[in-house]
Amino acid sequence: MKKPNLKQLFSNNRLWAREARENEPGFFKKLVNQHNPEYLWIGCADSRVPANEIVGLMPGELFVHRNIANVVVHTDLNCLSVLQYAVELLKVKHIIVCGHYGCGGVTAALQNRRHGLVDNWLCHIQDVYRKHHRMVDALSGKAKVNKMCELNVIEQVKNVCQTTVLQEAWTKGLGVSVHGWIYGIENGLLKNMNITVSRPGDVSKIL
Ligand code: CO
Repeated sequence: MKKPNLKQLFSNNRLWAREARENEPGFFKKLVNQHNPEYLWIGCADSRVPANEIVGLMPGELFVHRNIANVVVHTDLNCLSVLQYAVELLKVKHIIVCGHYGCGGVTAALQNRRHGLVDNWLCHIQDVYRKHHRMVDALSGKAKVNKMCELNVIEQVKNVCQTTVLQEAWTKGLGVSVHGWIYGIENGLLKNMNITVSRPGDVSKIL
């Protein structure tokens, strides 16, 4: 794959904007006055997992938060603010925590070596490992990493559900559901992990 230079990014952008206007006249004008996506995506920052493209959604349809290894930390003001804004102001109906197989962050967390500052962030993945180490240690290589990628999605779904934002939303009767999905870089396909939580009581039913 030839790497585009910065100038090409701008010409790509002009082409993209023109196509969007041609497909739907007034597209950008319409977006200026409305922001009401139904979905919040919490995914990995990995450049191979572009949220909107994977699910075929246009600007305005998907509110996105991405970080290394799609981690939801209860003290992460950035992620919590996104959650609160999405749930209480945008009133999204679905929150999708989407991991991906072969995640570099998850792989790094399983290694016994230093990667720098990022190791502090990866401690949260190591917590997931410690919790499920029996199941994970029964596997090796790619299977081990991929099992951890799945378990990480499950644990982050639980973390979303346990935030005050979701607890309050459910108390108020806001109809918001949290889903766990995982994406395959190898085939471009999403897999639903079937761990949807729509009320506080559902959380305890997850692994
Ligand atoms: Co990743």
